[in-house]
Formats: sequence, structure tokens, C-alpha cells
Amino acid sequence: MQKTPHLPVIAKEVLESLAPKQGQIVLDLTAGFGGHAHLLHQAIGNTGHYYGIDRDPEARTFFLNRFKDCSNITHLAGTFDTAPTLLARVGVTKVDVVLADIGISSYQVDNANRGFSFAKEGPLDMRMSPDTGLSAADLVNSMETEPLANLIYNYGEERRSRQIADAICKRRRKKKFTTTTDLAECIANASRGGKIHPATRTFQALRIAVNGELDQLATILQNIPPLLNSQGRFGIISFHSLEDRLVKNAFKQLQKSGDFNILTKKPIVAGVEEIKTNKRSRSAKLRVIEKV
Ligand SMILES: C[S@@+](CC[C@H](N)C(=O)[O-])C[C@H]1O[C@@H](n2cnc3c(N)ncnc32)[C@H](O)[C@@H]1O
Repeated sequence: MQKTPHLPVIAKEVLESLAPKQGQIVLDLTAGFGGHAHLLHQAIGNTGHYYGIDRDPEARTFFLNRFKDCSNITHLAGTFDTAPTLLARVGVTKVDVVLADIGISSYQVDNANRGFSFAKEGPLDMRMSPDTGLSAADLVNSMETEPLANLIYNYGEERRSRQIADAICKRRRKKKFTTTTDLAECIANASRGGKIHPATRTFQALRIAVNGELDQLATILQNIPPLLNSQGRFGIISFHSLEDRLVKNAFKQLQKSGDFNILTKKPIVAGVEEIKTNKRSRSAKLRVIEKV
């Protein structure tokens, strides 16, 4: 196998809390590079079936190659909000275990060409599926100041959103933004100080907007629970407070309905050892519900 460009986070905890069993049907909404897939597949054995979804064609190519010899692994290309339709196309209507490890992969962040990182010069893109929708450059070069400031505030929780949006709009009148570092420099000039890089929150906001990440999450919180078999489990790993809040509230509502139990009173987080070897795991939060 090729070396994987992404390490699965809190993998042991995912297995323990989702408890996949021999012969079960697993749906992985974020197949990525197959780190969790490998473990889930081992747990369900030859009699179960693993279905994995991903919108990123580069991740899909890696995944298909990694599991080319496994006949009970199926990769479905697309966005996970369409999971029920993608599954129905292959004749599946119910599943036992669902995992969503949302956000971007290390490969997407580390690869300058994908345009996610303010620290690496690359095209200002940020699309997980690079052929679909508007890029980050399209947004910063066209949005009016007010909606841009709101976007940066709402999705980046950035206090200096207005200052940053003003600087972006002023600068683009002279020259449009084309690269990540170009935008990062403009933001750094407009908003100095603080512990983190001044562009961190704006880049997060643009990434969420470009990929419709919160809408995607809100949709699976609605349309995945009805797919679960009795005692089926649904786990979501999120990486920032906006996502975790959505998950927490939706799971509470599901529990109130009487059809689901929350299995994680507090979210499961990575241990110190894992954080040492995989920095990305430090902000991961896993919440799990079970169908009664
Ligand atoms: C954190 S990585 C998952 C890594 C995977 N668990 C592994 O172990 O390799 C997230 C993956 O989900 C994909 N993704 C994120 N949002 C998606 C969406 N709405 N629909 C489909 N795929 C999505 C990304 O392209 C990325 O490959």
C-alpha cells in the first residue's frame, strides 16, 4: 500500500464507541484515505459490507487503489448530504453503523495546490470537489463588504471581521486575489496581534462557505438517523465549535424523541499520546447516538 497522507483520528475510540460487529453494514460518510475504513472493515469481516462516501476525487483514487482487493468495500463518489440517494442506488436502505469524520483531510491542508493553507502558496481555491461550485478566490473577489464581513464573523467567529472585509475589498480594487499567501498577507496587515495567525479564522470561514460545510452537516443530522437499524449507531467527529454545537443540539433533540440514546455524555477527545503524534487530533470531538 502507498503511504497514507492522512492519519485517522481517535481511531481506537471510534471502534469502541461504534462497536461494529461481524456481518454488519457500515456507512462511512467521509471515506477519505481509508484510515477508519480499514478498521471498520476488519471489524465487520467478510460477511459485512462497508460503504464509503467522499466528494474529493484525489481521495477517491487513493481509496480505490488501497482497497482494490476487497469485494465488500464500495466507494460512492458525491457529497454526504445525498447519502440516502447514493445508498439507494446500490440497493441499501438501512445501515448498522455510521461514521462522519467531517472537515478536511491532512492531504487537503498539506497540498498547496488545493488552496486551504494560508502558510503555503497556492491557488486560492479550497474546494473539496475542485470541479464544483465557487472557489475562495471567487468569493473574496466578488462579495460586497457587508456580507463578506458577516461570513467571516459567522463561520470564523472572527471579532475583526469588518476590518478584514474592508481590507480585502480595498485591496481587490487594485488587484484581484489569486493566491492563498496573497490573501493571508492582506489579512495579516489589517489585523495584527493574537496568539494564532491572523488569517486562521478567515480561512476557516471561507472554507466552510466554499464547501457548504454547515449545511452539509445539518442535512446528515436529519437524514441519517432514519437510516439506522435498531441499535444502530451514528458517530460524528467534529473539529470546531460551530460543528460540535450543531451535533450536540441535534443529538439532544433525537434523544428527546425517545427513539435514540446519547452514548457520549461528554464528547470523546484524543489522548495526550495521540496528540503528540498527530497534532490534528487535538481538536477532534466524537459524539455518538444509538437507535433504541
Ligand atoms: C477528515 S477527512 C476523513 C478521513 C478518513 N476518516 C480517513 O481515515 O482517511 C474528511 C474527508 O471527508 C471528505 N468530505 C468532507 N465533507 C464532505 C461532504 N460534505 N461530502 C463528502 N465528502 C466530504 C473530504 O473530502 C475528506 O476526504
